[in-house]
Amino acid sequence: MKKTPLVVANWKMHPGSSSAAKSLMRETAKALARTRGVDVAVAPPSVFLGELQPLIAGKKLRLAAQNVFYEKLGAYTGEVSVPMLKSVGAALAIVGHSERRALGETDELVNKKARAVIAGGLAAIACVGESKRDARGDYLSFVEKQLRAACAGVSAQALGKLVIAYEPIWAIGTGTNATPHDAHEMKLFIQRILTDTYGRAGAAKVRILYGGSVTAKNAGELMQDGAVDGFLVGGASLRAAEFASICRSAASS
Ligand code: PGA
Repeated sequence: MKKTPLVVANWKMHPGSSSAAKSLMRETAKALARTRGVDVAVAPPSVFLGELQPLIAGKKLRLAAQNVFYEKLGAYTGEVSVPMLKSVGAALAIVGHSERRALGETDELVNKKARAVIAGGLAAIACVGESKRDARGDYLSFVEKQLRAACAGVSAQALGKLVIAYEPIWAIGTGTNATPHDAHEMKLFIQRILTDTYGRAGAAKVRILYGGSVTAKNAGELMQDGAVDGFLVGGASLRAAEFASICRSAASS
């Protein structure tokens, strides 16, 4: 059965102020007002979540966090917990984005975060992806290791709350997206590993997104020929009209 696609806007560390974040959210909501057949979430910097929450009231849009810590409360200066994110309206949280891994986040930490997010009732979007491709296919074992580590201890019952985002580092912010063929191959590979662990019915619950230089221009073929279940969109999500067009491509394929 075909899953409802999911498209997530990853605003990263943009825009530069609370008023600019509200404007972008209003524009995004307006651009998406008539779009159906796709789940859409926006991940702003977490400091803006609370004030963006009223702007999505009554809309199909959901809020996501870009990062989270795995403990609930305590002496963890600078961290934000799952219950805190939930209290300001987040329904999903990205874990293990490559830009966080580049700052030192390990597979073990990504797993702790994913489990905490799911246990707290939010959906975890766990990111995996190689830094480069090689002719021997070592990138496949690299992604497999990240994926198995991210899912360790996640039960089959919790899989409805797990999303995997395949984001090859070489495609992020570079203007060079993976080809639909590359994306499709990796989607099948990820699905097979999930099937190994959880069986076919379990694996079928997990949406597998593609991220890395997704634009209004390439979204249609990445959905159709890449057969992914949606996108994690960085740069293009800062342009409301283009982001809405990507969401429509996801909805219509
Ligand atoms: P990009 O970023 O769309 O700007 O390549 C994607 C991401 O990092 O999630």
